[in-house]
Amino acid sequence: MNRREPLRIAVIGTGRMGADHVRRIDRVVSGARVTAVVDIDAERAKAVAAGVDGCTAHTDPAAAMAAADVDAVLIASSGPAHEAALLTAFEHDLPVLCEKPLTPDAASALRVMEAEQALGHRRVQVGFMRRYDTEYARLKALLETGRLGRPLMLHNRHRNVASPPFFTSAMLITDSVAHEVDATRWLLGHEITAVTVLRPTPSAGAPEGLTDPQFVVLETDGGALSDVEIFVNCGFGYQVQAEVVCERGTARIGDGHALVTSTAGRWGGTITQDWTERFAQAYDDEIQTWVDTTRRGGITGPSTWDGYAAAAVCEAGVRALESGVRVEVDLVEKPALYR
Ligand SMILES: NC(=O)c1ccc[n+]([C@@H]2O[C@H](COP(=O)([O-])OP(=O)(O)OC[C@H]3O[C@@H](n4cnc5c(N)ncnc54)[C@H](O)[C@@H]3O)[C@@H](O)[C@H]2O)c1
Repeated sequence: MNRREPLRIAVIGTGRMGADHVRRIDRVVSGARVTAVVDIDAERAKAVAAGVDGCTAHTDPAAAMAAADVDAVLIASSGPAHEAALLTAFEHDLPVLCEKPLTPDAASALRVMEAEQALGHRRVQVGFMRRYDTEYARLKALLETGRLGRPLMLHNRHRNVASPPFFTSAMLITDSVAHEVDATRWLLGHEITAVTVLRPTPSAGAPEGLTDPQFVVLETDGGALSDVEIFVNCGFGYQVQAEVVCERGTARIGDGHALVTSTAGRWGGTITQDWTERFAQAYDDEIQTWVDTTRRGGITGPSTWDGYAAAAVCEAGVRALESGVRVEVDLVEKPALYR
Protein backbone atom coordinates (compact mmCIF):
# COMPACT_ATOMS: atom_id res chain seq x y z
CA MET A 1 0.00 0.00 0.00
CA ASN A 2 1.17 3.52 -0.75
CA ARG A 3 -1.78 5.77 -0.01
CA ARG A 4 -1.86 9.48 -0.78
CA GLU A 5 -5.46 9.61 0.45
CA PRO A 6 -6.20 9.27 4.21
CA LEU A 7 -6.05 5.72 5.56
CA ARG A 8 -9.62 4.42 6.04
CA ILE A 9 -9.81 2.61 9.38
CA ALA A 10 -12.38 0.26 10.92
CA VAL A 11 -12.27 0.38 14.75
CA ILE A 12 -13.48 -2.83 16.39
CA GLY A 13 -14.72 -2.39 19.96
CA THR A 14 -16.06 1.01 21.02
CA GLY A 15 -15.61 0.73 24.80
CA ARG A 16 -13.33 3.02 26.75
CA MET A 17 -10.17 2.43 24.70
CA GLY A 18 -11.87 2.06 21.29
CA ALA A 19 -13.91 5.26 21.71
CA ASP A 20 -10.75 7.12 22.73
CA HIS A 21 -8.89 5.81 19.64
CA VAL A 22 -11.83 6.90 17.42
CA ARG A 23 -11.58 10.42 18.91
CA ARG A 24 -7.79 10.36 18.41
CA ILE A 25 -8.00 9.29 14.73
CA ASP A 26 -10.80 11.79 14.06
CA ARG A 27 -9.32 14.82 15.86
CA VAL A 28 -5.60 14.34 16.65
CA VAL A 29 -3.92 12.06 14.10
CA SER A 30 -3.30 13.22 10.53
CA GLY A 31 -3.62 11.09 7.39
CA ALA A 32 -6.43 8.83 8.59
CA ARG A 33 -10.17 8.71 9.17
CA VAL A 34 -12.56 6.25 10.80
CA THR A 35 -14.95 4.85 8.19
CA ALA A 36 -16.51 2.08 10.32
CA VAL A 37 -16.93 1.20 13.97
CA VAL A 38 -17.99 -2.20 15.30
CA ASP A 39 -19.33 -3.32 18.66
CA ILE A 40 -21.48 -6.24 19.72
CA ASP A 41 -23.34 -3.54 21.66
CA ALA A 42 -25.16 -1.90 18.70
CA GLU A 43 -26.18 1.20 20.64
CA ARG A 44 -22.60 1.86 21.74
CA ALA A 45 -21.32 1.54 18.15
CA LYS A 46 -24.08 3.84 16.85
CA ALA A 47 -23.37 6.49 19.51
CA VAL A 48 -19.65 6.55 18.62
CA ALA A 49 -20.31 6.54 14.83
CA ALA A 50 -22.73 9.46 15.23
CA GLY A 51 -19.83 11.70 16.29
CA VAL A 52 -17.73 11.03 13.15
CA ASP A 53 -18.55 12.25 9.61
CA GLY A 54 -19.10 9.39 7.13
CA CYS A 55 -18.66 6.63 9.72
CA THR A 56 -20.93 3.56 9.65
CA ALA A 57 -21.85 1.41 12.69
CA HIS A 58 -21.75 -2.41 12.65
CA THR A 59 -22.17 -5.31 15.07
CA ASP A 60 -20.21 -7.88 13.03
CA PRO A 61 -16.43 -7.32 12.68
CA ALA A 62 -16.28 -9.54 9.55
CA ALA A 63 -18.87 -7.43 7.71
CA ALA A 64 -17.01 -4.22 8.51
CA MET A 65 -13.66 -5.66 7.36
CA ALA A 66 -15.20 -6.83 4.08
CA ALA A 67 -16.36 -3.28 3.24
CA ALA A 68 -14.68 -1.62 0.26
CA ASP A 69 -13.84 1.58 2.15
CA VAL A 70 -11.64 -0.09 4.81
CA ASP A 71 -7.82 -0.12 4.40
CA ALA A 72 -6.79 -1.00 7.96
CA VAL A 73 -8.20 -2.24 11.27
CA LEU A 74 -7.74 -1.10 14.86
CA ILE A 75 -8.82 -3.84 17.30
CA ALA A 76 -9.90 -2.51 20.70
CA SER A 77 -12.50 -5.11 21.67
CA SER A 78 -12.09 -7.22 24.83
CA GLY A 79 -9.01 -9.50 24.80
CA PRO A 80 -10.89 -12.80 24.18
CA ALA A 81 -12.38 -11.30 20.96
CA HIS A 82 -8.97 -10.40 19.46
CA GLU A 83 -8.08 -13.78 17.91
CA ALA A 84 -11.20 -13.98 15.70
CA ALA A 85 -10.81 -10.35 14.59
CA LEU A 86 -7.11 -10.84 13.77
CA LEU A 87 -7.76 -13.99 11.72
CA THR A 88 -10.51 -12.19 9.77
CA ALA A 89 -8.18 -9.22 9.12
CA PHE A 90 -5.59 -11.69 7.76
CA GLU A 91 -8.21 -13.12 5.35
CA HIS A 92 -8.45 -9.61 3.84
CA ASP A 93 -4.68 -9.02 4.26
CA LEU A 94 -5.42 -5.81 6.19
CA PRO A 95 -2.84 -4.01 8.37
CA VAL A 96 -3.84 -4.17 12.05
CA LEU A 97 -3.14 -2.28 15.22
CA CYS A 98 -4.26 -4.67 17.98
CA GLU A 99 -4.61 -3.38 21.53
CA LYS A 100 -2.78 -5.43 24.13
CA PRO A 101 -3.12 -8.28 24.91
CA LEU A 102 -2.61 -9.76 21.44
CA THR A 103 -4.73 -12.64 22.82
CA PRO A 104 -5.34 -13.76 26.41
CA ASP A 105 -3.09 -16.87 26.35
CA ALA A 106 0.00 -18.30 24.66
CA ALA A 107 -1.81 -21.03 22.65
CA SER A 108 -4.13 -18.54 20.93
CA ALA A 109 -1.24 -16.08 20.39
CA LEU A 110 0.69 -18.92 18.74
CA ARG A 111 -2.25 -19.60 16.39
CA VAL A 112 -2.29 -15.91 15.39
CA MET A 113 1.49 -15.94 14.85
CA GLU A 114 1.19 -19.04 12.65
CA ALA A 115 -1.59 -17.42 10.59
CA GLU A 116 0.50 -14.28 10.08
CA GLN A 117 3.46 -16.39 8.98
CA ALA A 118 1.20 -18.12 6.45
CA LEU A 119 0.54 -14.65 4.95
CA GLY A 120 4.29 -14.36 4.49
CA HIS A 121 4.57 -10.82 5.88
CA ARG A 122 3.99 -8.95 9.15
CA ARG A 123 0.61 -7.27 9.41
CA VAL A 124 0.20 -6.62 13.16
CA GLN A 125 1.41 -3.90 15.49
CA VAL A 126 0.52 -4.69 19.13
CA GLY A 127 -0.61 -1.80 21.34
CA PHE A 128 2.23 -1.75 23.85
CA MET A 129 2.19 2.04 23.83
CA ARG A 130 4.85 2.59 26.48
CA ARG A 131 7.41 2.15 23.68
CA TYR A 132 6.12 5.52 22.34
CA ASP A 133 6.20 7.36 25.69
CA THR A 134 8.85 10.10 25.64
CA GLU A 135 10.30 9.10 29.03
CA TYR A 136 10.52 5.37 28.19
CA ALA A 137 12.03 6.22 24.79
CA ARG A 138 14.72 8.37 26.49
CA LEU A 139 15.53 5.57 28.92
CA LYS A 140 15.84 3.07 26.05
CA ALA A 141 18.08 5.48 24.07
CA LEU A 142 20.32 5.98 27.12
CA LEU A 143 20.67 2.22 27.70
CA GLU A 144 21.57 1.75 24.04
CA THR A 145 24.51 4.18 24.33
CA GLY A 146 26.09 1.76 26.83
CA ARG A 147 27.29 4.71 28.96
CA LEU A 148 25.88 3.21 32.16
CA GLY A 149 27.24 -0.26 31.43
CA ARG A 150 25.22 -3.47 31.45
CA PRO A 151 21.72 -3.33 33.03
CA LEU A 152 21.60 -5.50 36.16
CA MET A 153 18.16 -4.77 37.60
CA LEU A 154 14.98 -2.96 36.62
CA HIS A 155 12.62 -1.82 39.39
CA ASN A 156 9.05 -1.04 38.26
CA ARG A 157 6.10 0.39 40.14
CA HIS A 158 2.60 0.30 38.64
CA ARG A 159 -0.21 1.75 40.75
CA ASN A 160 -3.87 2.47 39.92
CA VAL A 161 -6.40 4.44 41.96
CA ALA A 162 -8.95 1.58 42.04
CA SER A 163 -9.63 -1.63 40.11
CA PRO A 164 -12.90 -2.14 38.17
CA PRO A 165 -15.45 -4.54 39.76
CA PHE A 166 -14.65 -7.40 37.33
CA PHE A 167 -10.90 -7.38 38.10
CA THR A 168 -9.47 -10.70 39.36
CA SER A 169 -6.13 -11.46 41.05
CA ALA A 170 -4.88 -13.03 37.79
CA MET A 171 -5.76 -9.83 35.90
CA LEU A 172 -3.19 -7.89 37.94
CA ILE A 173 -0.72 -9.97 35.90
CA THR A 174 -2.49 -10.38 32.54
CA ASP A 175 -3.92 -6.83 32.25
CA SER A 176 -1.50 -4.69 34.27
CA VAL A 177 1.93 -6.35 34.62
CA ALA A 178 1.64 -7.25 30.89
CA HIS A 179 2.88 -3.68 30.25
CA GLU A 180 6.00 -4.19 32.43
CA VAL A 181 6.60 -7.55 30.73
CA ASP A 182 6.81 -5.78 27.38
CA ALA A 183 8.76 -2.82 28.81
CA THR A 184 11.30 -5.20 30.37
CA ARG A 185 11.80 -7.18 27.13
CA TRP A 186 12.06 -3.98 25.06
CA LEU A 187 14.26 -1.90 27.37
CA LEU A 188 16.71 -4.71 28.13
CA GLY A 189 16.50 -6.55 24.80
CA HIS A 190 16.18 -9.82 26.76
CA GLU A 191 13.57 -12.59 26.84
CA ILE A 192 11.96 -13.38 30.20
CA THR A 193 12.75 -16.91 31.36
CA ALA A 194 11.01 -17.28 34.74
CA VAL A 195 8.42 -15.58 36.96
CA THR A 196 7.92 -15.56 40.74
CA VAL A 197 4.99 -13.77 42.41
CA LEU A 198 5.14 -12.78 46.09
CA ARG A 199 1.93 -11.81 47.92
CA PRO A 200 1.94 -9.43 50.88
CA THR A 201 -1.22 -9.35 53.03
CA PRO A 202 -3.78 -7.62 50.78
CA SER A 203 -4.54 -3.96 51.33
CA ALA A 204 -7.70 -3.17 53.33
CA GLY A 205 -8.47 -0.82 50.42
CA ALA A 206 -8.71 -3.73 47.94
CA PRO A 207 -12.03 -5.53 47.24
CA GLU A 208 -12.58 -8.68 49.35
CA GLY A 209 -10.67 -11.64 47.88
CA LEU A 210 -8.41 -9.63 45.53
CA THR A 211 -4.68 -10.33 45.96
CA ASP A 212 -3.57 -6.71 45.79
CA PRO A 213 -0.75 -5.67 45.87
CA GLN A 214 1.57 -8.29 44.33
CA PHE A 215 5.35 -8.29 43.91
CA VAL A 216 6.46 -9.93 40.67
CA VAL A 217 10.04 -10.95 39.89
CA LEU A 218 10.99 -11.56 36.25
CA GLU A 219 14.29 -13.29 35.37
CA THR A 220 15.80 -12.69 31.92
CA ASP A 221 18.03 -14.65 29.55
CA GLY A 222 20.54 -11.78 29.79
CA GLY A 223 20.99 -12.41 33.52
CA ALA A 224 19.01 -9.37 34.67
CA LEU A 225 16.18 -9.17 37.23
CA SER A 226 13.10 -7.01 36.74
CA ASP A 227 10.72 -6.57 39.67
CA VAL A 228 7.23 -5.11 39.51
CA GLU A 229 5.18 -3.75 42.40
CA ILE A 230 1.61 -3.94 41.10
CA PHE A 231 -0.94 -2.22 43.35
CA VAL A 232 -4.28 -1.55 41.64
CA ASN A 233 -6.18 -0.04 44.61
CA CYS A 234 -3.63 2.43 45.97
CA GLY A 235 -6.33 5.10 46.15
CA PHE A 236 -4.19 8.15 45.43
CA GLY A 237 -3.31 8.13 41.74
CA TYR A 238 -1.98 6.38 38.65
CA GLN A 239 1.79 5.98 38.85
CA VAL A 240 4.12 4.13 36.49
CA GLN A 241 7.78 4.36 37.43
CA ALA A 242 10.90 2.53 36.33
CA GLU A 243 14.51 2.61 37.51
CA VAL A 244 17.29 0.72 35.76
CA VAL A 245 20.36 -0.15 37.81
CA CYS A 246 23.42 -0.62 35.60
CA GLU A 247 27.09 -1.39 36.31
CA ARG A 248 28.08 2.29 36.34
CA GLY A 249 24.91 4.17 37.25
CA THR A 250 21.14 4.24 37.44
CA ALA A 251 18.40 5.93 35.42
CA ARG A 252 14.83 6.52 36.49
CA ILE A 253 11.57 7.72 34.87
CA GLY A 254 7.98 8.33 35.91
CA ASP A 255 8.39 10.66 38.87
CA GLY A 256 5.83 12.99 37.30
CA HIS A 257 7.70 16.16 38.27
CA ALA A 258 6.69 18.14 35.18
CA LEU A 259 5.37 20.98 37.38
CA VAL A 260 6.51 21.51 40.96
CA THR A 261 5.05 24.38 42.98
CA SER A 262 6.50 25.96 46.13
CA THR A 263 4.18 28.08 48.23
CA ALA A 264 3.16 28.74 51.84
CA GLY A 265 6.03 26.69 53.26
CA ARG A 266 5.31 23.58 51.17
CA TRP A 267 6.33 22.18 47.79
CA GLY A 268 4.40 19.74 45.62
CA GLY A 269 2.74 18.69 42.39
CA THR A 270 -0.16 16.58 41.13
CA ILE A 271 -0.41 12.86 40.40
CA THR A 272 -2.15 11.69 37.20
CA GLN A 273 -5.36 9.73 37.86
CA ASP A 274 -5.40 7.28 34.95
CA TRP A 275 -3.54 5.99 31.92
CA THR A 276 -5.43 8.10 29.37
CA GLU A 277 -3.88 11.15 31.07
CA ARG A 278 -0.39 9.74 31.88
CA PHE A 279 0.10 8.12 28.46
CA ALA A 280 -1.85 10.55 26.23
CA GLN A 281 1.28 11.51 24.27
CA ALA A 282 2.28 7.85 23.90
CA TYR A 283 -1.14 6.83 22.49
CA ASP A 284 -1.12 9.76 20.06
CA ASP A 285 2.39 8.94 18.80
CA GLU A 286 1.65 5.20 18.67
CA ILE A 287 -1.37 5.69 16.39
CA GLN A 288 0.28 8.42 14.28
CA THR A 289 3.33 6.18 13.70
CA TRP A 290 1.09 3.25 12.75
CA VAL A 291 -0.88 5.41 10.29
CA ASP A 292 2.26 6.92 8.70
CA THR A 293 4.04 3.58 8.38
CA THR A 294 0.96 1.80 7.06
CA ARG A 295 0.36 4.47 4.39
CA ARG A 296 3.94 3.93 3.22
CA GLY A 297 3.27 0.18 3.02
CA GLY A 298 5.56 -0.62 5.99
CA ILE A 299 5.23 -2.13 9.45
CA THR A 300 6.88 -1.14 12.74
CA GLY A 301 6.49 -1.39 16.51
CA PRO A 302 5.75 -4.36 18.77
CA SER A 303 5.12 -7.47 16.69
CA THR A 304 3.00 -10.58 16.97
CA TRP A 305 6.12 -12.24 18.47
CA ASP A 306 6.15 -9.57 21.21
CA GLY A 307 2.44 -10.21 21.82
CA TYR A 308 3.04 -13.97 22.00
CA ALA A 309 6.05 -13.62 24.34
CA ALA A 310 4.05 -11.33 26.66
CA ALA A 311 1.15 -13.81 26.70
CA ALA A 312 3.51 -16.70 27.55
CA VAL A 313 5.17 -14.73 30.38
CA CYS A 314 1.78 -13.66 31.80
CA GLU A 315 0.53 -17.25 31.65
CA ALA A 316 3.61 -18.34 33.65
CA GLY A 317 2.95 -15.38 35.99
CA VAL A 318 -0.60 -16.53 36.72
CA ARG A 319 0.69 -20.07 37.45
CA ALA A 320 3.33 -18.54 39.76
CA LEU A 321 0.64 -16.47 41.54
CA GLU A 322 -1.62 -19.47 42.04
CA SER A 323 1.11 -21.97 43.03
CA GLY A 324 3.38 -19.67 45.04
CA VAL A 325 6.46 -21.10 43.31
CA ARG A 326 8.85 -19.93 40.57
CA VAL A 327 7.55 -20.87 37.10
CA GLU A 328 9.72 -21.08 33.99
CA VAL A 329 8.52 -19.51 30.72
CA ASP A 330 8.23 -21.86 27.78
CA LEU A 331 8.69 -20.02 24.44
CA VAL A 332 8.75 -21.61 20.97
CA GLU A 333 11.75 -20.83 18.78
CA LYS A 334 11.50 -17.31 17.32
CA PRO A 335 10.23 -17.61 13.71
CA ALA A 336 12.33 -16.05 10.92
CA LEU A 337 9.61 -13.46 10.16
CA TYR A 338 10.24 -11.75 13.52
CA ARG A 339 14.06 -11.90 13.70
N1 LIG B 1 -2.82 0.06 25.95
C1 LIG B 1 -3.43 0.36 27.08
O1 LIG B 1 -2.89 1.07 27.92
C2 LIG B 1 -4.81 -0.15 27.35
C3 LIG B 1 -5.60 0.44 28.35
C4 LIG B 1 -6.89 -0.06 28.54
C5 LIG B 1 -7.37 -1.11 27.78
N2 LIG B 1 -6.54 -1.66 26.84
C6 LIG B 1 -7.01 -2.79 26.03
O2 LIG B 1 -8.00 -2.33 25.11
C7 LIG B 1 -8.98 -3.35 24.90
C8 LIG B 1 -10.36 -2.80 25.26
O3 LIG B 1 -10.35 -2.39 26.61
P1 LIG B 1 -11.43 -1.37 27.20
O4 LIG B 1 -10.91 -0.90 28.50
O5 LIG B 1 -11.84 -0.41 26.16
O6 LIG B 1 -12.66 -2.39 27.46
P2 LIG B 1 -14.23 -2.08 27.37
O7 LIG B 1 -14.88 -3.22 28.08
O8 LIG B 1 -14.52 -0.67 27.82
O9 LIG B 1 -14.56 -2.16 25.81
C9 LIG B 1 -14.52 -3.34 25.07
C10 LIG B 1 -15.61 -3.23 24.01
O10 LIG B 1 -15.47 -4.36 23.11
C11 LIG B 1 -16.78 -4.79 22.77
N3 LIG B 1 -16.69 -6.16 22.28
C12 LIG B 1 -16.53 -7.31 22.99
N4 LIG B 1 -16.48 -8.37 22.15
C13 LIG B 1 -16.59 -7.86 20.88
C14 LIG B 1 -16.61 -8.46 19.59
N5 LIG B 1 -16.49 -9.78 19.42
N6 LIG B 1 -16.74 -7.65 18.52
C15 LIG B 1 -16.86 -6.30 18.67
N7 LIG B 1 -16.87 -5.69 19.88
C16 LIG B 1 -16.73 -6.46 20.96
C17 LIG B 1 -17.58 -4.62 24.06
O11 LIG B 1 -18.97 -4.59 23.81
C18 LIG B 1 -17.03 -3.28 24.57
O12 LIG B 1 -17.77 -2.19 24.06
C19 LIG B 1 -8.55 -4.54 25.76
O13 LIG B 1 -7.78 -5.42 24.97
C20 LIG B 1 -7.67 -3.89 26.83
O14 LIG B 1 -6.71 -4.76 27.39
C21 LIG B 1 -5.30 -1.19 26.60
